[in-house]
Amino acid sequence: MNTSNQQLLQTNKTDINMDFYDSVIVIDFGSQYSELIARRVRELNVYSEVVSYRTTTEQIKKIAPKGIILSGGPNSVYADFAPSCDPEIFNLEIPVLGVCYGMQLMTKMLGGKVVQANKHEYGKSILEINPKDKLFLDLESKFTSWMSHGDSVTELPSGFSISAKTMNTTCAAISNREKKLYGVQFHPEVIHTMNGQEILRNFVISICGANPSWTMDKFIEDSISQVRAQVENKRVLLALSGGVDSSTLAFLLHKAIGENLACMFIDQGFMRKSEPERLLTTFQNEFHIKVHYINAKERFISSLKGIIDPEEKRKIIGREFIRVFEEESKKIGPFDYLAQGTLYPDVIESADSNVDPKTGERVAVKIKSHHNVGGLPKDLQFKLVEPFRKLFKDEVRKIAKQLSVPKRIIERHPFPGPGLAIRIIGEVTEEKLKILREADSIIRDELNKAGLYNSVWQVFGVLLSIQSVGVMGDKRTYSHPIVLRAVTSEDGMTADWAKLPYEVLEKISTRLVNEVTGINRVVYDITSKPPSTIEWE
Ligand code: XMP
Repeated sequence: MNTSNQQLLQTNKTDINMDFYDSVIVIDFGSQYSELIARRVRELNVYSEVVSYRTTTEQIKKIAPKGIILSGGPNSVYADFAPSCDPEIFNLEIPVLGVCYGMQLMTKMLGGKVVQANKHEYGKSILEINPKDKLFLDLESKFTSWMSHGDSVTELPSGFSISAKTMNTTCAAISNREKKLYGVQFHPEVIHTMNGQEILRNFVISICGANPSWTMDKFIEDSISQVRAQVENKRVLLALSGGVDSSTLAFLLHKAIGENLACMFIDQGFMRKSEPERLLTTFQNEFHIKVHYINAKERFISSLKGIIDPEEKRKIIGREFIRVFEEESKKIGPFDYLAQGTLYPDVIESADSNVDPKTGERVAVKIKSHHNVGGLPKDLQFKLVEPFRKLFKDEVRKIAKQLSVPKRIIERHPFPGPGLAIRIIGEVTEEKLKILREADSIIRDELNKAGLYNSVWQVFGVLLSIQSVGVMGDKRTYSHPIVLRAVTSEDGMTADWAKLPYEVLEKISTRLVNEVTGINRVVYDITSKPPSTIEWE
């Protein structure tokens, strides 16, 4: 990478400037819900970012947030290496809301006391609030809250009073009205807490006074003018996958820079039935966005010959993708910029707040090597354009809607970068791809007919390479089984198997066996994630 590229990446100059928006920052102490808090704040139309607990007061002053939320966390505030924050943040005259660990930390840092409680509180608890407290203004006096804590606040720091209790916890919420410091032992961000969003609204809008100006209309406007200023009249290359992120990015960039955008679609041969054709028609004929179609099917399938191991498959596909991308982009280049649909969760995941303070190691353990077009290596010879790197997926979907991206793209279920290749267990062959493609099309068709397609997170088939005995028209068959996988999920991180009606299962099973040559058995996967994963490889 040349020096100017390196600087650009390090200083994040490709970010869309967020200085126009009032913001509330979430200081992350390692809670699984930190990102969710930021999403909930954004649902109130106030921009929110997750920052590391190591962020200094000087850095916070530069961000100039209207409010600070201290997240929960897995530790006890008294544990060795328990993460803490800069104590000066309580003197910034910026309202602070501590959630769970965040409230306990604030209590300890300001001179109160936290102890290990006799009774752990986990799950739903009835909260009795003081409806006059600004955090709970206009709420009924008792409602369900969701708790998950072992430690409890037992002595308040000076200037604080108790604003809510539960049967097991005397200090379920505390506040220092004068200094605008608030704490809740429960989790307002999770859906099990009734009035959770109202509590966050009271904090963000009434207490912090944040202006709810974070709207996708304004974001589109701002990002278009900033992308124009960034790339001027230079050419930008975008790798399309057919998914909502890269498609929406193509629409946005086309609006911003018109013909200076070049889209490339590499057909690995692992897409679903008719998808490549549909993608080309949508972009070229309907929206007049030119797409360079690269037929690399032969190359990908032969690179997988004899490969059975899932990780090896994923790595080979990822490697080939980069090679094809490099070769082909030279042919239609030169390009100064590469556009990527990187989203905020990818950015947070690689941030240092996910580092275990004890060991200094990243908390996330790699389960699968993901491959997608947004994951191109950063040392390619391009500068990056990543307008979505501060956005959550639901925000990209809103943008897509506003830019009139076709509904079928917006509502498309997540589809892995390596495509059908990782839904064939065992060696990938042309014949198995044909079987799976047919099966997948029938499965989606039946879910659509039953009106259930949008109520599941994903539905698909997995083809097994083993064979089993069946009987059709008095004849013995010896063919492959197909696994039907349908899951519900909020974000793909955890998932439950979908309780599809028996009639729908029956219809799918009958059609698969009757209409797809090579399948004589259908089984339904009834495991959740964890302990399984959504995809089989
Ligand atoms: P797992 O199988 O890990 O999948 O439970 C979680 C979600 O991620 C999708 N997935 C991928 N998406 N590139 C992607 O863009 C990939 O390589 C990939 N592998 C899995 C999966 O479909 C599910 O939604």
